[in-house]
Amino acid sequence: MVSYKQIDPTTAIYFSVAPASELSNGQRMIVEIDGEPLAVFNIAGTFYAIADVCSHDDGPVAEGDLQNEFEIECPRHGARFDVRNGKVLSFPAIVDIPAYPVKVEDGQIRVGLPPTATPDHA
Ligand code: FES
Repeated sequence: MVSYKQIDPTTAIYFSVAPASELSNGQRMIVEIDGEPLAVFNIAGTFYAIADVCSHDDGPVAEGDLQNEFEIECPRHGARFDVRNGKVLSFPAIVDIPAYPVKVEDGQIRVGLPPTATPDHA
């Protein structure tokens, strides 16, 4: 069963993460926003954000190897996810992980969380 989960960018609340200049092409950044561990990737100049929680066993996923451009491999048991949308690509995970909308405003990377998140007053 797949529980595909993406946050609606039109209703999301955006949180500043870092200056875009601090996340170069090919790099990733692990942050916590409103108590949620997230990973932000710069892949060929486009930013993507996913939950840093593997749906297999709730372990951190984002420190794994990035393969085939958009696939992150969980370092614990090898499940793979698409960083563009959180979609699960291989066992042992069978459930997608959240993917968050990302935009750059005034040079800042901003990640959108559901409207239930605490507003960003930064
Ligand atoms: S915790 Fe990620 S594959 Fe098991």
